Amino acid sequence: MVIITVLIFFVLFCYLFRNKNGIPTNWPLLGMLPALLKNAYRIHEFLIELMERSNLTFHFKGPWFSNMNLLLTIDPTNIHHVLSKRFENYVKGPKLYEILEPLGDGILTTDSTLWLYHRNVAHSFFNHPKFHQSLVDVTWKKVKNGLIPVLEHVSKHNIVIDLQDLFLRFSYDTMCTIMMDHDPTSLSVDSPDFPLLKAVADMAHGAFIRHAVPTWIWKLQRWLNVGEEKKFRQGWKILDNFIYKCIDRKREAKAKGASIPSKTNNKDQDFEVSYDLLTFFMDNEDKNTNDKFLRDTITNFFLAGGETTSTALSWFFYLISNHPKVSHKIKQELNSIMIQNDDNYEMIFRNFKEISSKLVYLHAALCETLRLYPSIVFNPKTPVEPQILPSGHRVNSNTEIIFNTYAMGRMKSIWGDDCNEFKPERWILEGRMIKHEPSYKFSVFSAGPRSCIGKQMAFTQMKIVAAIIIQNYHIEAVEKYHVPTMSMVLHMKHGFKVRIFRS
Ligand code: HEM
Repeated sequence: MVIITVLIFFVLFCYLFRNKNGIPTNWPLLGMLPALLKNAYRIHEFLIELMERSNLTFHFKGPWFSNMNLLLTIDPTNIHHVLSKRFENYVKGPKLYEILEPLGDGILTTDSTLWLYHRNVAHSFFNHPKFHQSLVDVTWKKVKNGLIPVLEHVSKHNIVIDLQDLFLRFSYDTMCTIMMDHDPTSLSVDSPDFPLLKAVADMAHGAFIRHAVPTWIWKLQRWLNVGEEKKFRQGWKILDNFIYKCIDRKREAKAKGASIPSKTNNKDQDFEVSYDLLTFFMDNEDKNTNDKFLRDTITNFFLAGGETTSTALSWFFYLISNHPKVSHKIKQELNSIMIQNDDNYEMIFRNFKEISSKLVYLHAALCETLRLYPSIVFNPKTPVEPQILPSGHRVNSNTEIIFNTYAMGRMKSIWGDDCNEFKPERWILEGRMIKHEPSYKFSVFSAGPRSCIGKQMAFTQMKIVAAIIIQNYHIEAVEKYHVPTMSMVLHMKHGFKVRIFRS
């Protein structure tokens, strides 16, 4: 009797989970959920296979009791259509606004007039003449007083360190300074407890789960305040406390008459130009600028820039550690252009804008890293009016269109047969110029009017950090292979443990 029952279950299991040519079956009531559950543990590979087998676009239908109606696409013509050509018809929409509720009314989740307001202000801030120098100053100061002391310490004592955690702390310290004129100094030799790191990670994971399960499930969990939703709420509270404290601190400083933005007269000339987003908003205050509005605005920029840059740096060093020839070429390039002075490369940061344009091979290696490991993997959009996409798929306001940049970077039909190889050379023309790839093909920074506004900032920071480390240290990974997490941001699942040697 037991054997018969087991056999029946086995047959039923095989029947349920069978699929045709790797394409998920759309079951009555359950939709394609069984295939999703079966492959949840290998979601990135599953999506690559799915995209390959379905000619780059697949309509995924969830169970009848869910509102999952997803069009997964990495077809460049669809991406161009949605993000650029018919931009006004595709919005972030109310579902995403609800899922990412801690972002409030900031740039990442709003649409139309409010988004445009944020975008214009952000444009003025990022293009202000003071911004670039301030960015380089803040980054250099953190490298000198935070990153280098830690690298020196771990190399001297042969300590294994998690480079991913290190870069995360680096990013948070610099983002907080640039956004709020406050350095939490989380990057230091004793690696102090910094609850914000875990808070943001819990929120990102919670948001991913909210996206993956039917809405009523996470809403029920939220109401009961259990599981991922409990962690999500706790993380949100920690984030809010942190941001509101920074706003209060700034208001107090302003009330006391601190000149903002200011030129600080630091003795060692580290930090010449101080220029931050919070001050920028407060100085241009209008009726909208209450504390909640400032909190939403700052939170969005802070989260958009914090984990993305640090994640890209982690994957970059992972790839470099497995490709010594690439590392060697970057070092040669650096040697050929760096003006070494007594204080170890400080001079280059004073002229970083000029020098950066000469770091062609390093730039190519960073692009290649992002192609294989894009920091943000999923980019969802919702149609306002029904449309037929260039691929022939029909979409309407109930369809969620999702671009998957991880699968896109690994498609033979887009990047050629060697798409899985790490080859910075594919980005270089005639040995000395960066090959431009259209943003609907290389869409890791998104495309069109809503493309990433911090792209240049990210490249500047990544180049400074990469240059200093490659020039002065040798990185040896403890484990040769690493896999990404399932989250909104593509972290390394088990961190990136390395040994560091002075070169
Ligand atoms: C390697 C680093 C980075 C990557 C891969 C990246 C990627 C992206 C992507 C894919 C989007 C589109 C998101 C969407 O529409 O849902 C985006 C938007 C955005 N990014 Fe970045 N980003 C990076 C660094 C930064 C930095 C350093 C900042 C600085 C604050 C920043 C600020 C923003 C903002 C404000 C938006 C929203 C733009 C809008 O909606 O108009 N990003 N980024």
